[in-house]
Amino acid sequence: MNETFHVEGLGGEHVLQGDIPVHGAKNDTLKIMAASLLFEDLVAVTNVPDVTDVAALAELLADMGVHATRTGRNLSLAAPTSANTTLDTTRAKRLRASVTLTGPTLARYGAVSFPHPGGCVIGARPIDLFIEAFKKMGADCTTDDHHYHFVARDGQLHGADMFLDIASVGVTETVMMAAVLATGTTIIRNAAMEPEIQNLAHYLAACGARITGIGTPLLVIEGGSLLTARGKAYAVLPDRIETGSFAILAALAGRGVRITHCDPQHVAALLSFFSKAGVSYHTDADSITVQAPTAPYRSVNIRTHEYPGFSTDLQAPMTVFLTQAEGEGMVFETLFEGRLRYTDDLVRMGADITMFDPHRVMVRGPRTLTGRNLAAPDLRAGLAYVIAATIAAKDSDIHTIEHIDRGYERVEERFRALGVPITRTQEK
Ligand code: EPZ
Repeated sequence: MNETFHVEGLGGEHVLQGDIPVHGAKNDTLKIMAASLLFEDLVAVTNVPDVTDVAALAELLADMGVHATRTGRNLSLAAPTSANTTLDTTRAKRLRASVTLTGPTLARYGAVSFPHPGGCVIGARPIDLFIEAFKKMGADCTTDDHHYHFVARDGQLHGADMFLDIASVGVTETVMMAAVLATGTTIIRNAAMEPEIQNLAHYLAACGARITGIGTPLLVIEGGSLLTARGKAYAVLPDRIETGSFAILAALAGRGVRITHCDPQHVAALLSFFSKAGVSYHTDADSITVQAPTAPYRSVNIRTHEYPGFSTDLQAPMTVFLTQAEGEGMVFETLFEGRLRYTDDLVRMGADITMFDPHRVMVRGPRTLTGRNLAAPDLRAGLAYVIAATIAAKDSDIHTIEHIDRGYERVEERFRALGVPITRTQEK
């Protein structure tokens, strides 16, 4: 049954108030789920968000023979001694993170077959760097119409020294996991440094992996045998994209909103822009409080970047922010070439946005947005539409919200608690 968000626009009023909790990060949860394949015992995971991408990856792991049990926010995963190493095509195409299963599967079981992964349509999203890395580690690759087939030539992978042409999140995580069970030393140069990668690396190291350089662009992994959790649970990080998106909503429509259960350090790039734009906020160890504006916001130029730079996943909500700020702000999306298409809908709502090329738009503000009939194009732009609809004059209906449910747990309930007039309705 298709569902829709109906949002009664607040018309620019600053009325939202109260606390909004941040849940566990989808992109941290998915990677420890993949890493469970490196363990000889059960991996317990806490602070797991109830989002559909987590359920989809759990189904894919279950197909392989992993025993997954979920109780509330806890998930336990036990990998089999021998697994089905062919990833189900339909399930793997549902989410990009399916590709992160390939590294640990190939390293532990000696082979893996998988289709080109799916996920949000935000650009070409090739997998050339995964293929290059596995070949360097001693795997042979063949392809047919539906799958890539990798087999470790000697029955196991070997460590390799590699420079990543792009500091890719998925490639860094996947190669790091594979390297844990490879023979010898793997060196990953130009590694990505996102907090989720650091959390994963620290946990693997606490369970027996030998990894140095965590949190730097130079990761060195000494391969070894299967890891053991021995009851040590993996605590999923607070979702930094929820944190930033909620802070943007608070800046645009709040008069005292506290974002709780978060790590303000993980959104330092956003908070730096907030300071320049004139947003009043203060932080505690695990919360951010955004106050009502006392003067119009000023525009800023943003450029997405790998962590600790400004996250591409916050680019769409920040563009909505710029529609309400005085002056011209350039948005430069450096990572994905299809990630500014949603701006057409903001223009339909009344935003003044000029696209120069697929990577760059100019936003002139402030402009009054007007509610519209919208369809969420992907997860992050989908939430940006909810924010735009909240500050708009008149009502909006947002369709295809299954994209939003992939990564935000019942977000409408948390928004409604702040005062956003939003309801989930079933389409007839
Ligand atoms: C992760 O995607 C996240 N997804 C994305 O979040 C996030 O936008 C992205 O990192 C960047 O921070 C998950 O963690 C599941 P990349 P990932 O590899 O790993 C290119 C969300 O909404 N590339 O760092 O797929 C790629 O096309 C999602 O939760 C190659 O060219 O991102 C992109 O231009 C959306 N070849 C750049 O690297 C490859 O083999 C960075 O992507 C691999 C990547």
